[in-house]
Amino acid sequence: MDTMTAHYFQPPLPAEYRGQSDEVLRGRIAAAKSALGKRLLILGHHYQQTAVVDFADFAGDSFELSRKAAAQTGIDYVIFCGVHFMAESADILTEPRVRVILPDLGAGCSMADMASLEQAEDCWEQLRAAAAGRKIVPITYVNSSAAIKAFVGKNGGAVCTSSNCQAILRWALERGNHPQVLFLPDQHLGRNTAYQMGHPLDSMVVWDPQAELGGHTAQRLERADFVLWKGHCSVHQLFRPEHVDQARRQDSQVKVIVHPECAWEVVQKADLSGSTSFIVKQIEAAAPGTHWAVGTEVHLVQRLAQRHPEQKIKVLSDCQCLCTTMFRIDLAHLCWTVENLAAGKVVNQIKVEEPIRGDALKALERMLSIVG
Ligand code: 13P
Ligand code: SF4
Repeated sequence: MDTMTAHYFQPPLPAEYRGQSDEVLRGRIAAAKSALGKRLLILGHHYQQTAVVDFADFAGDSFELSRKAAAQTGIDYVIFCGVHFMAESADILTEPRVRVILPDLGAGCSMADMASLEQAEDCWEQLRAAAAGRKIVPITYVNSSAAIKAFVGKNGGAVCTSSNCQAILRWALERGNHPQVLFLPDQHLGRNTAYQMGHPLDSMVVWDPQAELGGHTAQRLERADFVLWKGHCSVHQLFRPEHVDQARRQDSQVKVIVHPECAWEVVQKADLSGSTSFIVKQIEAAAPGTHWAVGTEVHLVQRLAQRHPEQKIKVLSDCQCLCTTMFRIDLAHLCWTVENLAAGKVVNQIKVEEPIRGDALKALERMLSIVG
């Protein structure tokens, strides 16, 4: 069995998977999947290519996918068509005997890589010294490594996703008397959500892990209610407020809907913001003839445009808003993993070992118990 130990290196696929037509690969995936029957569950994130999503038993946003993984009984394998942190969460949330597979080990998330355990521990020590007795509650966006989730779980905090961030922050702010929230690793989701909840921008500071005291004085840190980690999504940062202005100039009827990983200035100018499933549901529920400019990953936007020809749907900007790591999961890699499974061989297993697993589970289970 090939067990994943260090992520991000994917050896080239064997020759029989390279250069095959989509039609051939589809037929082979379908045959191997059906041979495995109910032993295998394929999960797909909304950003996956449509050809891959078509094989998912369930497609959703990262919260729905975590919940789906946690609810499984009686399966042997999960093939996770998404990125590394999602497969790790699925491994943590499923029974230990379930093997979770990521079809391409190179499918990481640049945002998750922006916070290391050492940096988080260093930040924690400095904040505790600066906050002088004030309780600090760590919250991590699910887009983080298992080690960061374990750090948060060990220190009394919880995971959140873009669909439940408000509820989790509300929970965090109820821990003790006037606690401080350390929010990892996406400054934008933290800022957008806290601001939506009525917290002013000057109640937040950005923690730069490269700078002493995160780039602040101890007094400034002590006053802050939210310490936002200096991380971001390299895809969503491509959307700029000027793109919203331009979309409105080009089409006076357009509704702008964006993911909360976009910068605060973009979210402020948009009509709506929310998780990938929120975006899907808003568009599904809209009246025919609605015009949309959507600020999120291009594959989801293209699929929505195909599925809703009765609406006018485009990406908010012409930038190549492509999550290149999500895009690494293709039919060839899916075929390779599922055919190996059908032959009794597990390739690309993602396994989170103890003690990280147990502590990360605490943080994930807190999220699930807060928001169901
Ligand atoms: P969702 O939680 O909205 O699915 O988003 C995950 C993600 O990685 C967005 O970039
Ligand atoms: Fe990570 Fe951004 Fe890709 Fe989402 S879109 S998986 S946050 S790099």
